[in-house]
Amino acid sequence: MQGSMDRRSFLAAGAGLAAASLTEGLPQSARGPEIFVPAGDPVMVASHNALPHALPKAYAALVAGADPVDAAVLGAEVVENDPTDHSVGYGGLPNELGEVELDASVMDGTTGLCGAVASLRRIRNPAAVARLVMRHTKHAMLVGEGALAFAKAQGFKEEDLLTPEAREIWMYWKRSHSEKDFWLSPAAEEIPAHVKRWFGITGTVHFSARTKDGRLGACTSTSGMAFKLAGRVGDSPIIGAGLFTDETGSAGSTGRGESNIAVCGAHTIVEAMRQGKHPTDACLVAARRVADGTRAAWLKKPDGRPDLDIIFYAVDREGRFGGASLWEGNRYAVADASGARLLDAAFVIAKKG
Ligand code: GLY
Repeated sequence: MQGSMDRRSFLAAGAGLAAASLTEGLPQSARGPEIFVPAGDPVMVASHNALPHALPKAYAALVAGADPVDAAVLGAEVVENDPTDHSVGYGGLPNELGEVELDASVMDGTTGLCGAVASLRRIRNPAAVARLVMRHTKHAMLVGEGALAFAKAQGFKEEDLLTPEAREIWMYWKRSHSEKDFWLSPAAEEIPAHVKRWFGITGTVHFSARTKDGRLGACTSTSGMAFKLAGRVGDSPIIGAGLFTDETGSAGSTGRGESNIAVCGAHTIVEAMRQGKHPTDACLVAARRVADGTRAAWLKKPDGRPDLDIIFYAVDREGRFGGASLWEGNRYAVADASGARLLDAAFVIAKKG
């Protein structure tokens, strides 16, 4: 009908008028960034363990029109359900007591909402639980018993997450990590290669997604540091550290969580992108901050360089992406119109030198 407005247009026009009257006359810096909808292909950036299976599945969902948080959680679930990835979900390496404790977070750049769970036991898909914290509650994070009760109330199945192989790796660690306890240490040659390769590994999976119209969403999921103290929480569920997403960009991390918590890595990266940095350069800002912040002697190698690593991942609302780590030699995954592939991460510290 001419001259009339449906309810939706009326509300939208009203919101526009209210916003205009509040910001009218202010310089652009005071009004915040210009709101525009960039065009382009969907893009997902992720940790290397999102390949070969998780990233193509998540990216296909994103291309088909999935919400970016849903696409990221879909990818995380593939890795959480994979018993051969001992750094995430089912089959994750346990704490020092043999209990698998999972951390995860999600963030939606459009709504500004986030959700997280920490020290969640017996539920293999913490990312989906974090998403429900974001969408079904007025909270941002649930931990321990409360997170488990919430997950069960939402219909998640309780199960033993410690697989036979993860138990075997834990047992070798228990026997060999100290000469001063009552365990008899195995000889080095007695430890099977499939066990040895998981000693000293800190894995996690991260996905940041950008839709073709520039909406952003992300998810990080992990079983945390292997053989940690019970109750230890890393960076993955800490919004601003293991993940941060707003309308400007999205970032996340894998690696030594304590060192990332100390620099609020993901938030630092998104702020750097807001100031105009390319995602790779923004990731390097956070990686340098971690390197500079590594001052405790017990965190350093004999030559004084950091004895730890963190890899950062980022995508901005234009669809530019990047990754960077402390040490040379890391890779990250990306999926865009050219397919899903691994790329070398930029780095702060060369292996030689
Ligand atoms: N970045 C994973 C953790 O430290 O728990």
